[in-house]
Amino acid sequence: MVSTLLSSKNFTNVQDVKDINGLVQLALQMKAKKKKSKIGADKRIGLIFLNPSMRTRISSQIAAKNLGLDIIVLNLEKDSWLLEFNETAIMNGSTVEHIKDAAPILGEYFDLLGIRTFPTLKNKDEDYKELVLQQLIKYSKLPIISLESATLHPLQSLADIITIQEHFSLKRKPKVVLTWAPHIKPLPQCVANSFAQWMNRWNGADFVITHPKGYELSEVYTQNAQIVYDQKTALDNADFIYVKNWSSYNNYGQMPPVEADWMLQLNKLPNNPKVKIMHCLPVRRNIELSSEVLDSNHCITTEQAKNRVWAAQSVMHEILKQIQK
Ligand code: CP
Repeated sequence: MVSTLLSSKNFTNVQDVKDINGLVQLALQMKAKKKKSKIGADKRIGLIFLNPSMRTRISSQIAAKNLGLDIIVLNLEKDSWLLEFNETAIMNGSTVEHIKDAAPILGEYFDLLGIRTFPTLKNKDEDYKELVLQQLIKYSKLPIISLESATLHPLQSLADIITIQEHFSLKRKPKVVLTWAPHIKPLPQCVANSFAQWMNRWNGADFVITHPKGYELSEVYTQNAQIVYDQKTALDNADFIYVKNWSSYNNYGQMPPVEADWMLQLNKLPNNPKVKIMHCLPVRRNIELSSEVLDSNHCITTEQAKNRVWAAQSVMHEILKQIQK
């Protein structure tokens, strides 16, 4: 029996992690030693993107290369046939190949797969069932790494916790506030869901969520997190402020009107000279966050993005351990 920090061959959800602190420590050790390994030699990873990406795409490729993996990136909707995921579809529309037919072939070509999907933001049940991810797991029979799914972004959340751990040295738990931010169009709930899910499970911080009424997240992810509707009150004494927009979960994919000004600006920061500002990126300047905040020394978004490499590398390493012959 192989000893691993994961509880599954897949990495799609915090439930697939046995030991979050162990995984964070592994990532930090890899980072400190700029550690490379040959554990992936003779194995091939497929990185499949159904949506655009910069950080996830590049960090996953660097991580895979550091582990000796052969890598093929597939921009599915541009480079290949449009896939159908509906089990009972009559394929008389734009989709050309069913996942039931394509996935077993991917299973032959690769040893593990990463996939990025996106929600429809129209059909909550379908999105929250993670149809695309579940179909790929079922029909490829390969270990699957989520590169962001319809509802969660676990590699981002792991990188976020690594970053918090690196930037906080006091003996007490840090106060971490996830704050909703404005946006010009409806965005998925996945980064916020995932961050909430990981923070609750990690239990390494006092965790507060603040958002306008109408933007409540699913309680499956927020669990017992403190929800504060007044942003100023929520930000008081914060050590870390994670800024992110999401569309409504209850009024699915909609953007209920918000009257107050929720954009984070310098004058809203708590009286804590060490407060750190986080965002998963990409970010719309002067819509979600003011440029002054993003350009200030409070902002650690570049460190977060840098840690995506070590998050991906630690996860791939723990999966590769499980599939060694
Ligand atoms: N944060 C994040 O996932 O960035 P990309 O969409 O560029 O991969």
